[in-house]
Amino acid sequence: KMKVAVLTSGGDSAGMNAVVRAVVKTAIIKGCETWIVREGYEGLVRGNSEGHRHTSSVAEKGPTSPRVKGTESQEAEGFVHNLRFGDGELLKDGTGDHPGGRTLKGRYIVRVGWDDVRGWFSEGGTLIGTARSVAFRTREGRLTGAHNMIKEGIDALVVCGGDGSLTGADVFRAEWPGLVNELRNEGKITDEQATKHAHLKIVGLVGSIDNDMSMTDLTIGAPTALHRICESIDNINSTAYSHSRAFVLEVMGRHCGWLALMAAVSCGADFVFIPENPPDADKWADEMCTMIQSHRDIGKRKTIVIVAEGALDSKLQPIRAEQVKDILSERLGLDTRVTTLGHTQRGGRPCAFDRILPTLQGIEAVEALLDATPDTPSYMIGVRENKITRVPLMEAVKMTREVAQAISEKDFEKAMSLRDPEFRE
Ligand code: F6P
Repeated sequence: KMKVAVLTSGGDSAGMNAVVRAVVKTAIIKGCETWIVREGYEGLVRGNSEGHRHTSSVAEKGPTSPRVKGTESQEAEGFVHNLRFGDGELLKDGTGDHPGGRTLKGRYIVRVGWDDVRGWFSEGGTLIGTARSVAFRTREGRLTGAHNMIKEGIDALVVCGGDGSLTGADVFRAEWPGLVNELRNEGKITDEQATKHAHLKIVGLVGSIDNDMSMTDLTIGAPTALHRICESIDNINSTAYSHSRAFVLEVMGRHCGWLALMAAVSCGADFVFIPENPPDADKWADEMCTMIQSHRDIGKRKTIVIVAEGALDSKLQPIRAEQVKDILSERLGLDTRVTTLGHTQRGGRPCAFDRILPTLQGIEAVEALLDATPDTPSYMIGVRENKITRVPLMEAVKMTREVAQAISEKDFEKAMSLRDPEFRE
């Protein structure tokens, strides 16, 4: 019986709960035992303090059917219920009692059942917590993480996160045999455990609002973030129109301009700055002013300029919203305001597509784990032309890093062709 754990890592994104729900429910249906790891990789490193470890008899039993309703029977088997009501504080540092009477103190790797994830697909953020773990970036941290997983008997891991988190997954997978050997040599695990856990099954799902991962068309959470941005621009439009003002909006996306560009298209912005298309450092201010003035000349009462947070000019100098505002005020005499949308873009309930995509990809992730052999690569689950895909995790991570490198070297053709193979053709 495969024991699957799922964790969410890095910046949260809408749809991560739907991932956890889909993975847990699919895995139960397929006869696996299901676990969650709280607070991303940090939870793997912290593990469960001795008093809170599941005994093997508890772990062996598992739910008797996917639709076990009786919370009592599940509680008797050591499940934690209604994690959602932990509401962060409880989950964050493991202090306090679980409202259902169970404490999560000292427990980061938690057995869950069908009822625990009920209704999760419509919740924003990630209810199992996330972190950008510093400890897991060290080999020592990953060794402890491997030890904690093996102690609980977990042999398969689903990681949902952005490029950094999936890079971590790839490193963990590559190091795994060495980590297991070391644990055995140090006498921390038995020979039997070392043999049973010789191979780590790991699969990545891309949860990120940035839509910056290569080898997939869309990342989980990006459509919702885009929707949030559009809602904000709709709100700003009415006040901008009333005062005939200009607004400069800074949107997230790190080194990727997808959110900014799609928001510009969706909301009819006057001008947009994205990292992938840096304007001429000596000309962009003039070009922007000419364009905006021409819109004003034909009677437009409002101006919207979108600046991706990673936008650069041709000399690789950052383009800042405040700078754009000053130019619009001074050169065109426009009454201009800056709005940084910030984390409103990342929060809130997932849109329909950020429930559908993680559900389909969560199912595929469990199937990929069940198909895994020591000879198959670890996969990242993607989506291409509306079809759910499996691509080698290592390749996707490598290509994403190459894109970032190409952008930093101003080789935009290369960056675009790596991000989108069709661009190559
Ligand atoms: O990667 C997701 C993201 O929201 C980026 O768009 C943004 O640059 C960053 O995370 C913000 O990180 P934090 O939430 O740690 O401030």
